[in-house]
Amino acid sequence: MLTCYDFTTARLMEEAGVPALLVGDSAASVILGHPSTLPVSLDFMIELAAAVRRGAPNCFVVADMPFGSYQASAATGVKNVCKMMQLSGADCVKLEVAPSHARLVRKITDAGVAVMAHLGLRPQAVGLLGGYRAQGRNAREADEIVRQAERMQKAGAVAILLEAVPPEVSEAVVNAIGLPVIGCGAGPACHGSVVVTQDLLGLTPRQPRFVPADESVKIKLIEVFENYISEVSEGRYPGTEHQYRMSEKR
Ligand code: KIV
Repeated sequence: MLTCYDFTTARLMEEAGVPALLVGDSAASVILGHPSTLPVSLDFMIELAAAVRRGAPNCFVVADMPFGSYQASAATGVKNVCKMMQLSGADCVKLEVAPSHARLVRKITDAGVAVMAHLGLRPQAVGLLGGYRAQGRNAREADEIVRQAERMQKAGAVAILLEAVPPEVSEAVVNAIGLPVIGCGAGPACHGSVVVTQDLLGLTPRQPRFVPADESVKIKLIEVFENYISEVSEGRYPGTEHQYRMSEKR
């Protein structure tokens, strides 16, 4: 699984055989330049998810529910999830879940919508967690994550996303439940992995240590931009091959 936020990249990812695309609220940072994921709206996430769906009709598309779209009440959460599903065509929604969200997850699945429950580091709760830190680093926190995964399975979630936890924790989660577990900095026991695409391509200023960053695209992009600037400023572009011709007829 990779994050994806636009039609063009979604087409390439489908062509490359990426099975699942996450339209993550990390768009707040990598698309809009915000320091956290909190500022993005539901309408913005719907637009992105719909674009990704159009670009990758055969991939499994997971749409992130943004901060504020499901926290106020279960009724608002279900309503906003239905809006996301109707307008984006996504296959599944992802929610960053606290223990009290089990009821909401049950209501969403009762409405017929597949839910991926996001545990471990929950960037929407950064204020409460005291920063972007790995979670489950002591036995008490690790047990709580495993219990939370069990609660989410019971509530009807179809998959777990586990972010920034030690490998022992993801292994315990994988052993405790029967759902697919997608890791994001969660070690090798998970059934799948997701990373932010801009991190993978080395396009972000810094990448988390767990990302297998490959900077070749970044280097190529800079080269193409530099070449374009030189061609224009030195008068080589536009050449005759880039120009429209007028008809000889009046
Ligand atoms: O929003 C996102 O891209 C995510 C991934 C980092 C897991 O939730």
